[in-house]
Amino acid sequence: MKRIATLTLVTVMGAAPVLSGDYSKHVDNSRATAREFMQTLKQDLKKGMQEGGPVNAVSVCNLAAPGIASTYSVRKGWEVGRTSLKPRNPDNAPDAWERAVLESFDERNCAGEDPAKLEYYEVVTADGKRELRYMKAIPTLGLCLACHGEHLDSQVRTRIETLYPHDRAVGYQAGDIRGAFTITQPLDHE
Ligand code: HEC
Repeated sequence: MKRIATLTLVTVMGAAPVLSGDYSKHVDNSRATAREFMQTLKQDLKKGMQEGGPVNAVSVCNLAAPGIASTYSVRKGWEVGRTSLKPRNPDNAPDAWERAVLESFDERNCAGEDPAKLEYYEVVTADGKRELRYMKAIPTLGLCLACHGEHLDSQVRTRIETLYPHDRAVGYQAGDIRGAFTITQPLDHE
């Protein structure tokens, strides 16, 4: 994929991105998808934790999230996923564009913006085709600390280390940015 140089991107990456053209409907659709994804995931996590504790719920974030993501991708022909600067699953590692956006989210968070409201979008050209890329930050909540916090129960830790030997997604505190939803919508149809 053709990527925009990080430096150029950072200079245009304000709180209110400017798009050349009216893509407000596309942006709204991406926003709605990120919101729906978050709600489904939170519900599934809460239910999993209530039913079998965090050891059982590991498989919710493990299996349900990629499942939810691929449902959206198949339904809409989009790419929908989650990414992070410290991913648990290496498949979720950011590409150059996503990394730059995640870094800008951390900077905006440090500058006092509410992490629950951080988003960024931009029309980019990849292989000669335009696409709308959208990201929305995912704040760390109390509920997340059982698996992403500083002190993990030893059984949870073992389960995670077995599934994810390269895990980097621990040591977070409530309010930190855990990662982001990332959504790519093609704008040019065949
Ligand atoms: C029961 C354990 C558990 C809890 C609780 C949990 N997660 Fe996760 N999380 C995981 C696992 C396992 C993965 C790896 C998923 C995969 O393979 O894609 C993961 C992956 C992620 C990712 C994708 C990026 C990465 O690191 O691979 C994000 C973002 C994320 N979690 C956010 C959260 C947030 C926000 C909460 C709280 C609302 C939360 N998680 C609660 C276990 C958990």
